[in-house]
Amino acid sequence: MSPTQTRAWQQLAQLAADVLSKSLREFADQPTLEPLSLSGCHFDFSKQRVDSKIIDALVRLSDELDIPGQRDAMLRGDLVNASEQRAALHTALRGGAGDIDASIRAEVAQVKGRMNDLAIALRTGAWRGLTDKPISDVVHIGIGGSHLGPELVVKALDQFAIATPRVHFVANIDAHQLDRILSQLNPETTLFIIASKTFTTLETRVNAESARSWFVERTCSPSAIAKHFVAVTTNTKAAAEFGLPAENLFPIWDWVGGRYSLWSAIGIPIVIALGPDGFDALLRGARNMDQHFATAPPHQNIPLMSALLATWNCNFLGASSLAVLSYDERLALLPDYLQQLEMESNGKSVSRAGEPVKTHTMPILWGGTGTRGQHAYHQLLHQGTRAFSADFVLVAKSHHQRPEHHDWLKANALAQSQAMAIGFDAPAEEPHRAVAGNRPTATIILDELVPESLGALLAAYEHKVFCQGAIWDINSFDQWGVELGKALAQPIFEALSGQADRDQDAATQRLIDQLSPPRNLPPN
Ligand code: F6P
Repeated sequence: MSPTQTRAWQQLAQLAADVLSKSLREFADQPTLEPLSLSGCHFDFSKQRVDSKIIDALVRLSDELDIPGQRDAMLRGDLVNASEQRAALHTALRGGAGDIDASIRAEVAQVKGRMNDLAIALRTGAWRGLTDKPISDVVHIGIGGSHLGPELVVKALDQFAIATPRVHFVANIDAHQLDRILSQLNPETTLFIIASKTFTTLETRVNAESARSWFVERTCSPSAIAKHFVAVTTNTKAAAEFGLPAENLFPIWDWVGGRYSLWSAIGIPIVIALGPDGFDALLRGARNMDQHFATAPPHQNIPLMSALLATWNCNFLGASSLAVLSYDERLALLPDYLQQLEMESNGKSVSRAGEPVKTHTMPILWGGTGTRGQHAYHQLLHQGTRAFSADFVLVAKSHHQRPEHHDWLKANALAQSQAMAIGFDAPAEEPHRAVAGNRPTATIILDELVPESLGALLAAYEHKVFCQGAIWDINSFDQWGVELGKALAQPIFEALSGQADRDQDAATQRLIDQLSPPRNLPPN
C-alpha cells in the first residue's frame, strides 16, 4: 500500500510543519537518539531534525507498512522481486539471517571453497600461465554491480592486500581504460576475470573480447585461454562460446541481484587481494548487520532507523539530494558504489502494484571525499538554495603515522556538520556571510577501516535501501529503467559505424553526423 494511506504519514506531515519553524540547534542540543553501534561501526543521528514524537511516528509508519514482515519475507527467500519473479537472498552469501535452505547453504559453501582455492593458487604461484610463469596481475572486467563493490572493497582495504598478484579493474567501454591497463601487463602473467551475471552486458562483452584478442595476438596461443581467463556468470552457454571450459566458471544465482553481489564470486578480486580470512571478516561484519537488522527493536535498528530518517528528510523536509561525504581517501569510491545501490534500487516511479507512486522516491545521491569537497561544492551546501541531507563517513583511527593530519581531517568533518546544523547569523551589513544551517546530517564513524567494519557498513546501507523501498512500496530489486538506453544504443551504433541507414530524430541525427568519422579518409 502507498505510505500516504497510513495514519502515521498524515501525522508526520503535521509534525513537519512544526519542525520547519524550529532551528536544528534545538534538536542538536538535546539529541533524541543515542548512537547505534555494531561491529566497530557507529551511526550517530544527533544532527537530524527529529524529536521523540517524530521518531515514534516514523516507527508507527514502519509498523503500519509492516516493514518487519517485509524484511522477514526477504530474509527467508520469498519472491520479493516480483517483476523478475526472484528472491533477494544476498544475505545467504554471508551466512543468512533467516532459515536458509540447506541446499543453498551447501552451494554457497562449495563456491566459496573454489574462490578460496583460486585465490590461494594465485597467491602461492601454483596457478601457472602458458609459459609456466606465476600470475603477476589480475584484471577484473565487469560493470555496475559486477564491478563497483569489488573495486570499492579492494581499494578501501589496500593496506591489507598482498603485493602480488596486483588487481586491476576495467568497467568502461571506453578503451582508454582497458588500454591504459593492458599497456602495463604481460599476457604470460595476466589472468582475466570476466564478471557478468548475464554475460550479455555490452561493456563487459566488448572489453572481454578485446582482452582475449590482445592475449591471443601476443601469445599466438588461443588454446591457452583456459590458463588466463575465468568467468563469474549464470550464463554458462555464452561463457563456453567465449572459449572457457566449465572448470573456469564460477556460478552466481538468480537470487543475487547485481548490486548485492560483491559477497558472491563477483567478489573474487577481494579474496585475491585480502585472502580468504580477509573476505571472511568482511562477510562476518555483514552477517552481524544482517542479524542485527533481523532482530533489533525498531528504535535501535540501524538500517531501519537510517531508512526512516532518510524518508523523513526527503519526503517531509524536502531534501532533494543525499550527499555522501567520505572523510577518508580510502573510501573515495563509496559514493560511486552507493549511487548504484541506492539509485538503481530505489529510483522508481511505479509502485509494486504497477500504479504511479504518490510520493517522491530516491533523491539524487552524490558525494566525494573530505576535505577536498570543502574547496569545491561545500559552498553550495552551506549557502545554496536547495534542501539536502548528508552522510558524513569517518574513521576514528588511521593506519598512517601522521596524527596531526588525522586530527585535522576529523576536526574538519565535525566542523562541516556543525556548520550545516547551526549555521551562522551574519551581521546585517554582511548578509553574504550568512549560513542558514538546518541541514540534517548523519555521522557514521568506523573505529578502524578493517574488513569487518566495512562489511557491516555496506550491509547497513543495503538494508536501509530495502527498508526505504518497502516504505515507498516500490520494487528495489529490479532496474527496468536502464533497458531503454541499451536498446537505443544499438541503431545509433550501427549508424555511427556506417552499418545502417541513418533514421533518427533530427537532433540525434545531427549529433551522429558530427561524430561520424569521414569514411573516405585513411585512419590516423
Ligand atoms: O546497469 C544494469 C545492470 O544490469 C546492473 O544492475 C548490473 O549490476 C550490471 O548491469 C551488470 O550486469 P551483468 O553482471 O549481467 O554484466
